[in-house]
Amino acid sequence: MSQNDQVLHYPIPAEAALEPPAEWARLRQGCPVARVRLPSGDEASLLTRYQDVKQVLADPRFTRLLNADDAARLSANESGGLFSSDMAQVIPDGGEGHQRWRRLVGRWFTAKRMAALRPVMEEMAEQLIDDMVKRGRPADLKASLGFPLPVYVICDLLGVPAADRDRFAYWSDTLLNLTRFGQAEVDAAQAEFFQYMSDHVAAKRARPGEDLISELIKGADADGGGLSDLELLVTGMALLVAGHETTANMIGKMVGMLLADRSRWESLLADRSLVRTAVEESLRFDANPGFGLPRYLREETEVGGTVLPRGTTVICSMAAANRDESVFDAAGEMDLGRSPNPHLSFGSGAHSCLGQALARTELQVVLEVLLRRLPSLELAVPVQELRKVDGLVVGGLSEVPVRW
Ligand code: HEM
Repeated sequence: MSQNDQVLHYPIPAEAALEPPAEWARLRQGCPVARVRLPSGDEASLLTRYQDVKQVLADPRFTRLLNADDAARLSANESGGLFSSDMAQVIPDGGEGHQRWRRLVGRWFTAKRMAALRPVMEEMAEQLIDDMVKRGRPADLKASLGFPLPVYVICDLLGVPAADRDRFAYWSDTLLNLTRFGQAEVDAAQAEFFQYMSDHVAAKRARPGEDLISELIKGADADGGGLSDLELLVTGMALLVAGHETTANMIGKMVGMLLADRSRWESLLADRSLVRTAVEESLRFDANPGFGLPRYLREETEVGGTVLPRGTTVICSMAAANRDESVFDAAGEMDLGRSPNPHLSFGSGAHSCLGQALARTELQVVLEVLLRRLPSLELAVPVQELRKVDGLVVGGLSEVPVRW
């Protein structure tokens, strides 16, 4: 059987939590368009080369319309949850409507705003670290800092008061962890969240503040065609869904990778100016980002020398692409000063991460505050004992046990 005839099981298992599967290098080399079998039993084509992944993410013929009749289902028990609910359809997924939505929401994520948010984030991180230190060592850095911080930040940007943050954290967890909670709990959380957000949007219309929802309302008045109440509500939900678990896991993985070889942590202690590039390199080097980006092909197209028929479902592995030696020198090494670093961890093209400036700022702040407050930080278990969580969408470490 030739390499191209093999059907690999996907996701491909890796030997260790922080290591990439050995298969990636083999596929990039010899089988850049690989046939894989998804957890649902359906087949898809897996892309692992940088240029191919980038090309597909930039090409509108590869859509996000995975509800097409002949599109591959990702998992067997795909209840679809939030992503295929009527709510998710409120924000257009492509074309003019999607661009308009991106333009309106994207206006808020300016460099000036990110700079203004820094001290707020620093204070949040300080507080969470204080609480962690008070509870004593060892501690799980993911649960103590990684999980709460991004939810607090999203609450802040939506103008949700600090007193309601923990309810938001619960809703976010329930909406995303469809397997951990029963359907009744998920339905109840969704209903509570919708009710909260519609009251919140109404309150902001009556009395706008400085938050993103208020800015969207004010911007609409200025240029006419703004977002409806329902669109505002769903935008809030989309930001929570897109920005919580991703960032929470990335905080855990970043700290895990930097402590796994403590000379990395020591380089940062010796030279704090490396924080910015170290964050980018952590994003690139992350071997466990989750499923990758699925796309559904509307018409026959060639990728990496292979003709893909209409109706193909493609999985773009950004993490495999991020290790492509033809783009990154010594791609298998973590180089904290690497620059430029055009990794694909935030995707690329029309859907690339809208919150990437915010995510970067959060990661930088977390690292700066940890280096300052807990310079003696180290893993509390051997690296081999770190465990992965294989969420359907976002990957991460189940815990990041640390001491100081
Ligand atoms: C380290 C953390 C994060 C990672 C790795 C990440 C990654 C991604 C990726 C790969 C996409 C592309 C999805 C696709 O093409 O189908 C995306 C989209 C998106 N992200 Fe992020 N993200 C992160 C944090 C955030 C944050 C903090 C927010 C906002 C609060 C956010 C908001 C969004 C939104 C709204 C989209 C959809 C954009 C669109 O469809 O036009 N993300 N993100």
